[in-house]
Amino acid sequence: MSNVARARYIDDLLRTRLTANPELKVVLIGCGFDSRAFRLKGGSWIELDEPQLIAYKNERLPAAKAPNPLRRISIDFEEESLQEKLQPHAGAALTVFVLEGVTMYITAESLRLTLEILRSLFRNHQVIADLMTHGFINTYGGTIKRIIAQLGAELIPSNQPALPFEQAGYRQVSSREIASAALGYRSLEWLAPILRLFFGALQRLHRARVEPP
Ligand SMILES: C[S@@+](CC[C@H](N)C(=O)[O-])C[C@H]1O[C@@H](n2cnc3c(N)ncnc32)[C@H](O)[C@@H]1O
Repeated sequence: MSNVARARYIDDLLRTRLTANPELKVVLIGCGFDSRAFRLKGGSWIELDEPQLIAYKNERLPAAKAPNPLRRISIDFEEESLQEKLQPHAGAALTVFVLEGVTMYITAESLRLTLEILRSLFRNHQVIADLMTHGFINTYGGTIKRIIAQLGAELIPSNQPALPFEQAGYRQVSSREIASAALGYRSLEWLAPILRLFFGALQRLHRARVEPP
């Protein structure tokens, strides 16, 4: 549920920006199977992901078929330079970067370095990112954590997931708890404070069980 709500929330943020500026440059870092360049109206799009994924995506959903200009860039973030890959697209044009489902897989230091690259190349940009805390994944994400580990990846959530942004000089413009956004889409936002109380109690109980006095 949270991934669907996250996608919807980011769609809405992008729609607002694209309506205000149909020429907006949108860069999806770790795009996966994101199809926004096909689904949303306007914008000039760049998708970055690892070479195998870009090849797979190009076969099934060719960039040339997108209704908006779309460029795909292959990169292995661990081996190749993001700075070099993005350099040809740098400039002063308003640009939005989307880091969706990405920050929780990289260390705080790599996130900070990534953000510093964006700041050095794009003078006028915003970042839309989802952040996950350590407490959240430890309490609620046991199964997903195990499945992700079986697939060979690792969740690296932090206690201060926004810190790399602050360190890189970003200012937070807005934020939203994704669970409450999900309830809002079903007109159940009034349930959010009750669920927060309930899950808070559950979390305290869980801590008490794993950290006996
Ligand atoms: C959890 S997925 C998120 C995908 C998409 N943004 C979404 O929200 O559905 C993380 C993405 O990062 C990409 N990725 C992971 N490690 C990478 C690496 N070393 N180089 C390039 N891309 C990588 C994966 O291929 C994957 O598409």
